[in-house]
Amino acid sequence: MSRIPKRLKAAAAAATATALVALPLTLMSTGASAAPTHVDNPYAGATQYVNPTWSASVEAAAGRAGDATLAAKMRAIKNQPTAVWMDRISAIAGNADGNGLKYHLDQALAQKQGSTPIVFNVVIYDLPGRDCYALASNGELPATDAGMARYKSEYIDPIAALLGDPKYQDIRISATIEPDSLPNLITNSSEAACQQAAPYYREGVKYALDKLHAIPNVYTYIDAAHGGWLGWPSNAAPAAKLFADVARTTSAGLASVDGFVTNTANSTPLVEPFLTSPTLQVGGNPVKSSSFYEWNDDFDEIDWTAHLHSLLVAEGFPASTGMLIDTSRNGWGGSARPTAASTSTTLNTYVDQSRVDKRVHRGAWCNPLGAGIGERPQATPSGYASSHLDAFVWIKPPGESDGASSEIPNDQGKRFDRMCDPTFVSPKLANQLTGATPNAPLAGQWFEAQFRTLVQNAYPVISTTNPTTPPPTTSSTRRTAGTRASPAPSASPTRVAQRSAAGA
Ligand code: BGC
Repeated sequence: MSRIPKRLKAAAAAATATALVALPLTLMSTGASAAPTHVDNPYAGATQYVNPTWSASVEAAAGRAGDATLAAKMRAIKNQPTAVWMDRISAIAGNADGNGLKYHLDQALAQKQGSTPIVFNVVIYDLPGRDCYALASNGELPATDAGMARYKSEYIDPIAALLGDPKYQDIRISATIEPDSLPNLITNSSEAACQQAAPYYREGVKYALDKLHAIPNVYTYIDAAHGGWLGWPSNAAPAAKLFADVARTTSAGLASVDGFVTNTANSTPLVEPFLTSPTLQVGGNPVKSSSFYEWNDDFDEIDWTAHLHSLLVAEGFPASTGMLIDTSRNGWGGSARPTAASTSTTLNTYVDQSRVDKRVHRGAWCNPLGAGIGERPQATPSGYASSHLDAFVWIKPPGESDGASSEIPNDQGKRFDRMCDPTFVSPKLANQLTGATPNAPLAGQWFEAQFRTLVQNAYPVISTTNPTTPPPTTSSTRRTAGTRASPAPSASPTRVAQRSAAGA
């Protein structure tokens, strides 16, 4: 059996044996009050928590769909599991935007079916100076010592107290740790706001890991951006090193991390089925040298997770480190999806016609128009051995905005980021229009127009005849990991400033 508890693995095997021998006989025989084992992959053999509030939003949207097929598709996914975001201190107790953490934990217990484990996905997202390279998800806590103190005592401590309540010990709690934060320190350290936030991001992530890892039924997954952000070797290697450096500052060291989650709130495809070799020559140049890929070999999240995993292991993380991919909005189906590789002999035309990712630029993170829902959540997806996937998850609840497309006053610290404005030509996107969906509300708010498009453009297509069985994935065209070539020295950009949507 490979379900060896990771943190036990990381500890000395001898100590484990001693501890087991020392267990009181009653506990060993009944197991009744014993804390559940910390397994290698919490998603394996488990169901996942369905947020009733998200389901109700989907049902309401279906009621307003005005189109029977669309409504049926919405209803077919309304009981999919989505993560619950603790996006500010008031989210813990509950606020106008949603129920509190205790409500969700109680609901998760109620949803648990017999002895089948259940995973509750929660997002830890309130660092001081949050979203330092963008404005849409700036937060409530300033990047100051006072902000850090509040993060610890008013945010992480109460969350850890609730998650650590023995009442919830049978819930496998999967915590996505601070989307975009450490990745921003890799690519955006020239930005004053990121420089100011950097020490607090490191200290905050360390603090969160220490508190959460101490709870045996909590599983920690650090956010690791996406392939279109960190895929370049000059970004990827420093990112893996930073993750290891921060983890090493915790009291459990690398063992405080169960895994990494990529593509949080972003729309980088799982697989680019018609661009399977970054080195394929078109018009005398490799496809990876196209304007869209900018010499980045990691065209999709399968590439990125495999690449990152190998770097993490080189940094000392165990091979059992698991990867999650947020597939909530990376489907790219609909009529614009190509069905074959292009026949053009002009490089950029070939790439643009072949890619399923229809963004104007891989840095376009805000409510990208044309994106669809991706793979349905599932444990240990097969066909991607090099990626070491624990699961596909829906961390960003489809239908929740990435940011407002105009100024909207609020008390959450969120600001107007022009990357969310479809009329804006952005220098960060090679001077192209952002491609953002118009009329977007504040980040995190229900955005029905976007939800409709996400459902319509879902890939795999949402089946209305057998909603509980996800359609098969296209894994046959995968290239194997290890074929990644180094970028040509003359043309490789240095760290390209990108950001994901997470906070998105
Ligand atoms: C927002 C959060 C929200 C989350 C999930 C983020 O972009 O800043 O407030 O909870 O998305 O929708």
